[in-house]
Amino acid sequence: MSIVQEIVKKVVKVLPDKPVDPLIARHGALGQPLSRLDGPVKVAGAARFTAEVALDNMACAALVCATIAKGRIEHIDTGDAEHAPGVVAVLTHLNVPRMQAPPQQFTDPKSAANSNLPVMQDATVYWNGQPVAVVVAERQDQADHAAALVKVRYVVDEAHLSFEARMPHAHAPDNILGEPAEVRIGDAEAALAKADVRVDATYHTPRYNHNAIELHATTAEWHGNDALTLHDASQFVAGTRYTIAKVFGLKEDQVRVLSPFVGGAFGNKAVWNHTLLAIAAAKAVGRPVRLAVKRADVFHCIGGRTLSKQRVALGARADGSLAALIHTGTTAVVTHNAFPEQFSFPARHLYATDNLLVSQQVVELDMVANTAMRAPGESIGSFALESAIDELAVASGIDPVELRRRIEPEKDPAKGDAFSSRHIVEAYRRGAERFGWTRRNPTPRSQRDGEWLVGQGVATATYPYYRMPGGAVRISLHADGRAVVQTAAHEMGMGTATVQTQHAAERLGLPLDRVRFVYGDSSLPFSPVAGGSSQTTTIAAGMIAAAEKLTKELIHLAGRDSPLHGAAADAVEARDGGLFVKDDPTRGESYAAILARAGRDSVDVTADAPMPAEMMKYSMHSFGAQFCEVRVSEVTGEVRIARWLGSFDTGRILNPKTAASQFRGGIIMGIGMALMEESLFDERTGRFMNPSLAEYHVPVHLDVPEIDVIWTDLPDPHAPLGAHGIGEIGITGVAAAIANAVYHATGKRVRSLPITLDKLLA
Ligand code: MOS
Repeated sequence: MSIVQEIVKKVVKVLPDKPVDPLIARHGALGQPLSRLDGPVKVAGAARFTAEVALDNMACAALVCATIAKGRIEHIDTGDAEHAPGVVAVLTHLNVPRMQAPPQQFTDPKSAANSNLPVMQDATVYWNGQPVAVVVAERQDQADHAAALVKVRYVVDEAHLSFEARMPHAHAPDNILGEPAEVRIGDAEAALAKADVRVDATYHTPRYNHNAIELHATTAEWHGNDALTLHDASQFVAGTRYTIAKVFGLKEDQVRVLSPFVGGAFGNKAVWNHTLLAIAAAKAVGRPVRLAVKRADVFHCIGGRTLSKQRVALGARADGSLAALIHTGTTAVVTHNAFPEQFSFPARHLYATDNLLVSQQVVELDMVANTAMRAPGESIGSFALESAIDELAVASGIDPVELRRRIEPEKDPAKGDAFSSRHIVEAYRRGAERFGWTRRNPTPRSQRDGEWLVGQGVATATYPYYRMPGGAVRISLHADGRAVVQTAAHEMGMGTATVQTQHAAERLGLPLDRVRFVYGDSSLPFSPVAGGSSQTTTIAAGMIAAAEKLTKELIHLAGRDSPLHGAAADAVEARDGGLFVKDDPTRGESYAAILARAGRDSVDVTADAPMPAEMMKYSMHSFGAQFCEVRVSEVTGEVRIARWLGSFDTGRILNPKTAASQFRGGIIMGIGMALMEESLFDERTGRFMNPSLAEYHVPVHLDVPEIDVIWTDLPDPHAPLGAHGIGEIGITGVAAAIANAVYHATGKRVRSLPITLDKLLA
């Protein structure tokens, strides 16, 4: 999120390097494969998710969504619905409480809203699936039934729905997440024309939808007219609070957002129409209201990943070195959300080339706002770029692993900055060895097992390092040796609570069972969005700042009679439940002793993380090498994934168990993206045609082989805890590795996702 970089640029003038944190290499609590601390309550069914929150006198709501792509409501007949059993109210633009239009998150980073359109405030319809009415009833089944009785008559306007038809209107967006839409170094087209070896191809990726196990849901409870509690499936509770305060004219401290358990969130558990409509409905009926979104409506009124058309052209010398790298293309966006999917980001950072051209364009369509979905940009951009690199390897007769070694850059190709930590060649070396890459016969169609053609493919995984500004952490240290660490962060299943507990234990020198990490509540110290694979380092930086402050406070409290008296905070280390002077282990005292002498039950500090200056100074990324083996039926064209190895270079690994799960989850999502997932959008009506798990296929157990993951575990000295993000890197490179393996198996190059049977039989 280079909006982050924009902010940092304004704030940070000098960038002093701090001494390296000793914890980046220490293996104590950190580095252990600790099982998830939130696991037992989830397995026991005791964790209460948003749609399960039951409040006294609570009513249930159902959405009625538009069935035209553009126009206005001419008449809306709610009579039958109002008289249906159990119905409390039917809200439309005619009677819903007034709301301000929300601020939009990509232009206002404090916001969590994916669109700046007003919600149900007038008769205008902007997309097929936009909520046009909300039915509130005593029970969910009654609300659902009554919602089916609402009749809407529309005046239909002509809508822009065809990506191809709008291509003549493609234009550059103002920026791509704060980065320029175009980067030109030298004259790539001229260099391409003169190159010894050329590949120049167009790649297509379809729309994809979010299908987290937990559906989006909101339960809203007003306390009078000026206080609101919201239970919400969210990956940004502070942003949701900010957005709601703006929309409903409240102060932020009048809104509390709770999100203790989230059943998966990959970029779109944010503020959408349903969030605001649940609050408006609760206000209108004077009771708590639960609005649980249905699977089909997650397609219709909550956004997913946009489609893309990308060109990658590579011009190389005989030794594989690049004279030209061109990556251009177009994605679809809406006018009310500034999110051009950043597919060109990998090409800016991956390869040494004499001439570089990356450029993105957008076309505006009348559709639900597209948004972030696990590694937005890098997932689909790496499909095109890493397929093309494989095509170049074939065209030049160079092994694809060796080719990537030859075009490894010394410094960031687009910006010229030094890399903070980049061991991608090492990740390839280890991966190739473990996978047995060198035994591969490079000739396509050279391996067969009955009807199955067998092939191996490889591709680079890459995702930027982000740390968000403003992570704040509160540490409360109690005289009985317990610590409570608080921040308004998010545990969406990735292991945050576990890893941060490990970090706090290590940082404070306490046993794991003496530390409690509290999160998922907007009333806690501010935590930014759990997005961009940034949350671990963001909280870590806040925790380091809070621990430093705590150390100073404790030395102060310890007073003149303490063996710590006179010690400087940075000369002291926390271990064994107390503070000790580093150079003189005889000088130390337990927390309990310090607090007892000071007559205190506890001490409490809160600190903000320093601005993420490291991102301004260095080019920082996670890396990986994805190796796979596929089997393709010559009879049916069916593709099965037989083997997988992900070899990652993502800084220091804080918990091998939760990290392995993150990598595997990303790879599985990438297998879905490569082989089966595709949101079918009817360009005549603007309606999704397969809005269910029966027709939108995600990978199931039988589609997924044993996935082997390894990592370099080399800490980045410039990142908190030496760690890079790992939540999104796993999906990147996956589709290309599969497409490259399919080429190796069959001799057919598929440049359009998903790689379905028809494309292989054609
Ligand atoms: Mo992610 S797509 O930043 O949740």
